[in-house]
Amino acid sequence: MATWSAPGKVFLFGEHAVVYGKPGIAMAIKPRVFVTVRNTRHATKAKSPYIDGCFEAMGVVGSVYLNSQIPSSSGLGSSAAVTVATLSAINDEFSLHKTREDIANMAFEIEKTVQKGRASPTDTTVSTYGGIVLISGGSRRRLPPQNIHLVIGDSLVSHSTSKMVELVAELRKKHPEIVDPVLDAIQGVSLAAIHHLSNPRELGRYMNMNHALLDALGVGHPQLSRLVLAARSAGAFGAKITGAGGGGSMIALCPRQLKHRVAGAIEACDARAIITSIDTEGVRKEKNV
Ligand code: PMV
Repeated sequence: MATWSAPGKVFLFGEHAVVYGKPGIAMAIKPRVFVTVRNTRHATKAKSPYIDGCFEAMGVVGSVYLNSQIPSSSGLGSSAAVTVATLSAINDEFSLHKTREDIANMAFEIEKTVQKGRASPTDTTVSTYGGIVLISGGSRRRLPPQNIHLVIGDSLVSHSTSKMVELVAELRKKHPEIVDPVLDAIQGVSLAAIHHLSNPRELGRYMNMNHALLDALGVGHPQLSRLVLAARSAGAFGAKITGAGGGGSMIALCPRQLKHRVAGAIEACDARAIITSIDTEGVRKEKNV
């Protein structure tokens, strides 16, 4: 029996713009998915197509037990975390000697298959390695980890990443003269933010700018706007949509002493708040209990 866990993620900057080759910055967060795999001769019915994909890719059968701290369909990378943790647990339980890099690559392929080609390697990279990752064109580079404290607000409004990506593509086709400068401006924000990752006050300002630009792209939602404004009024340095938008989650960067107040303000808007910070470990082995 082997138990492994992998973290979720948020986009700090640059979502949607990354689809057009612009830079983006994503960060692993504390909530994790825990997966226990046991070498049994028969396969137990898997709970998700991602888990099925993992056993298929590794060419083994076994039973699996999953325990998640990451709400699914909230834009916090839960499917990538499930995939990365399951592959790692299978790798350990069956002594398959895959490296972390193998796991990251396989997890991306599985996400791509399950999501019918609409996956970016961001979630699987961040979940495997942890920390902060700069996505730039086709490449992914780890940035020095920073002590970033966030309050996440899950709007509980369901959304579809592929639909939101499609929406931006349509708007761009109709109004390239408006959308292209907005994407360039998001790039400007991401590039500036890289140099201020250790300065929360400054970083918060960049988050607010990024949020306004995402709103301009049409990926906002009234409930997300409410949460963002509530977080800022409660003292956050800055707040923005994280991920695809149209529902899903927002993040607020807060002074440490105000995180409970900001979380309370978010919950008062009928949303779920998660107080969290950076995860620097990525996928890891857990003790079996
Ligand atoms: O909501 P999420 O975490 O799946 O993020 C989507 C981010 C996009 O930039 C909109 C799409 C992508 O694949 O990068």
